[in-house]
Amino acid sequence: MKISVSFLKSNYDKLETIKKINNTDCDYIHVDVMDNIFVNNYTEDLIPYLNSCKKPLDVHLMVQDPLEYILAYKNLKPEYLTIHLEIDKDISFLLNKIKSLGIKAGIALNPQTPIDKLKPYLKDIDLVLIMSVQPGLGGQKFMPSCLEKIKSLVELKEKNNYKYLINVDGGINDITVKDVKTAQVDMCVSGSFICQAEDFQKQINLLK
Ligand code: DX5
Ligand code: ZN
Repeated sequence: MKISVSFLKSNYDKLETIKKINNTDCDYIHVDVMDNIFVNNYTEDLIPYLNSCKKPLDVHLMVQDPLEYILAYKNLKPEYLTIHLEIDKDISFLLNKIKSLGIKAGIALNPQTPIDKLKPYLKDIDLVLIMSVQPGLGGQKFMPSCLEKIKSLVELKEKNNYKYLINVDGGINDITVKDVKTAQVDMCVSGSFICQAEDFQKQINLLK
């Protein structure tokens, strides 16, 4: 299971947090981008901080209108750009846009959104991000309802030979990680469990 570290909620300032993440063996940095429209929270421009990042980027766009963000983030050459299924925009157009830039495309799903709505896109995407909290804030409690969704996605993937990775985001710590591992997730995002500790690597080892 790969680990992607979110720096949304940290005991350290952004540059120090990214430096500490760089010094671990985590697989990705998870970048939470919020517009105060799709979610009730706003992130300042993170791009200047991310220039010092030495890990591949897994960018989570919690925004109603992702196009301008896709165009801004493409310069950082992220590995994944993930948009939300719940936005009122043309999802296929946005996925194709991301892929045309040579970036892997993901779809994120809020806790209340059923897997069925994802089905038309599953054959074309590289990543599914299952939200295990309501998007918008770090440090929330893990919602076990995500586990059934993960299991369904594993089944659909095996049955149809799909290529997407299954990622889970929110409330992952040394306890909840056991359940998502059992559900056979490929990757997990963890934020406050890692970035509110002194020794980031020690927390990552606990997740592993
Ligand atoms: C929630 C974000 C998550 C979150 C993860 O809106 O998408 O990435 O910050 O942080 P923890 O691990 O603290 O839930
Ligand atoms: Zn996130």
